[in-house]
Amino acid sequence: MSTVRRPLIIGNWKMNLGLNQSIGLAKELKNLVASIYAGPETAVCPSFPHLLAVRQILEGSVIGVGAQDLAPQKPGAYTGAVCAEQLSELELRFALLGHSERRQFFGETDMDVAEKIRAAFRVGLVPVLCFGETLEQREAGSTEEVVVRQVGAAIEGLESQALATLVLAYEPIWAIGTGHSAEVADAQDVHRLVRGLLQEAAGEESAQTTRILYGGSVNSSNVGGYLAAEDIDGALVGGASLDPDEFVKILCYQDHT
Ligand code: PGA
Repeated sequence: MSTVRRPLIIGNWKMNLGLNQSIGLAKELKNLVASIYAGPETAVCPSFPHLLAVRQILEGSVIGVGAQDLAPQKPGAYTGAVCAEQLSELELRFALLGHSERRQFFGETDMDVAEKIRAAFRVGLVPVLCFGETLEQREAGSTEEVVVRQVGAAIEGLESQALATLVLAYEPIWAIGTGHSAEVADAQDVHRLVRGLLQEAAGEESAQTTRILYGGSVNSSNVGGYLAAEDIDGALVGGASLDPDEFVKILCYQDHT
């Protein structure tokens, strides 16, 4: 973690909670964080139908709110989809884009993800571009190739200002929800590679500003190790973000490292 980049820790609630559970979790987080907070930037990403309620609860708190996805089209006849313009009315800060579960279960391609990133920028949402290799790809030695392809397709043609604002999240698929988090050194290697890609695309200054998060079985015991690595600027947290005490411990990683 460099001193020029403010650490960022985002909770991804996925499709886990009912409305009352999302409300309850948001209230607990707000209370816990209010009393102790002097930490990284943070946000949580509830499901679409819970966004407004959670955002209203977290009003005035340091915890921001993000969406888990968006449709890249402009408003119109796209039944069942939710576009960036609709999300921007909710005054959200982030949109997770290209999460591996979207790629795996909903067939999202690199081109879809690239369009979504542009749609997020269109309305002032900060895109969080998720990328990462499968276990098979890692074992075949093609991690670098996969990462270069996914990140390259997503950032192509973006201005350096956009590249500095964009957040990236390296999430090796084999580490998501498995309890097998990546070795810090292996994650750092990928993060350094990605910062190199950003530098080629936008120059040194912009690349030094861009935050690259790690995600995949992050918890309060391992988060400090990741954040100590030079090019790891925060965490995208799934399972552990559903437990308010654990999530707040993750936010307070500096106090217990
Ligand atoms: P996990 O999920 O923390 O449960 O591994 C991370 C993610 O999918 O963003």
